[in-house]
Amino acid sequence: MERRSFIEMFVAGAVGFTSLVKQDNDIGNQINWNRIRKQYPDSRSKVLNLNNGSAGMMSLDVEKQVLKFISEMNRNPPYEQEKYWGKIFELSKINLAEMIDCSAEELALVRNTTEALNFVLTGYNFPEKSNVVCGDHDYSHATDTLKNLSKERNFKLRQVKINLPADEEDIIEAYRKKINAKTEMVLITSMTHREGQMLPVKQISKLAREVGAKVLVDAAHSIGHYEHSVKDWDCDFYCTSLHKWLGGPLGTGVLYVRKNLLREIRGSYNLNESNQDKMQKFEAVGTKSYALYAAILSAIRYHQKIGTKTKHQRLMELTDYWTKAIDQIPNAEAIVPNKYGGIASFYYPGSSTKILGFFESKNIHLKKVRPLIANRTTYRVSPNIYHSFKDMDRFIEAFLEFSKQV
Ligand SMILES: Cc1ncc(COP(=O)(O)O)c(C=O)c1O
Repeated sequence: MERRSFIEMFVAGAVGFTSLVKQDNDIGNQINWNRIRKQYPDSRSKVLNLNNGSAGMMSLDVEKQVLKFISEMNRNPPYEQEKYWGKIFELSKINLAEMIDCSAEELALVRNTTEALNFVLTGYNFPEKSNVVCGDHDYSHATDTLKNLSKERNFKLRQVKINLPADEEDIIEAYRKKINAKTEMVLITSMTHREGQMLPVKQISKLAREVGAKVLVDAAHSIGHYEHSVKDWDCDFYCTSLHKWLGGPLGTGVLYVRKNLLREIRGSYNLNESNQDKMQKFEAVGTKSYALYAAILSAIRYHQKIGTKTKHQRLMELTDYWTKAIDQIPNAEAIVPNKYGGIASFYYPGSSTKILGFFESKNIHLKKVRPLIANRTTYRVSPNIYHSFKDMDRFIEAFLEFSKQV
């Protein structure tokens, strides 16, 4: 169906809509988004993957590099080639460090955010009777680890409960109320996975500093999505996945540990004492796929050609586009935080099985999410830079069709 037909449906009076027609070269000036789209495998797929919050996609270029490295690795066993792979990894770290504003010696390449978070949480010596402040909105991999550890090591969890999206002032106030003199660490999710709200990390971090608590940032959705700085956030630990918004190979992530705190996180148990002062202590997990890590550099290069700011702007435009349209469908409610990017969600009454089933029948992937406080099922929509406004029309048209059936 052509884009015009979506507009015509609205103009025809279905829901009293005024034109939202967008051109794919409207923003980012020099960027030709149609060309970008063709550089991704998705342009050849029947599936409309609006679940990039779970995993993004490599461009065809990056994919080609992974395959090339796999073949190289197969022909040159990694143990004889450590210097070769090592140099590529170092280069990746230098570039990643530049992106998040730290030094390359403070970074380790790991498999994902989950692994990085677990290194920090399980490797830290939480004093008995201290507490850790986290949020209802944090990812379960982090909060479940904390719940298990708190029982084992006898510390308390003080969980911020706030109905997101919310104003920054209210969020800061909610953290202020939970942080106290016994707080050992504050976990901050820089962009929440259900609502896509960018939290005021710097301000929350400042509250933690006032009581001498450490700051751990779950930045799963931040790298390659919007500009930020580890220094500006003043965090001690930062964990992210490169396969979400940076377009890196699946199974690649980063752990940052502030230099002077390296000794405070245990790292792999298979290493002897002399290795405890190097970030490599988080990388020494046995044989792994060097090819994936080697291709990170290509993902960074691809990303840099577009630029973080431009990418963020584009993602916001895609979100604006679909949320404004959805809001005009009776009973549908788009949920967009004040500060956002490529993640937002919507509410629609009725059976989630029916709603998701309908979109699946149209080959459209969404993610069902259930914010704990709001206690109602919502649906996360997370497009990526390889999507066009026409793709968003396909989703909107499907939604409109569904709304007429119920
Ligand atoms: C906020 C947040 N943290 C952590 C994770 C875990 O990411 P990964 O599966 O890459 O480890 C996710 C996954 O979606 C997430 O949304």
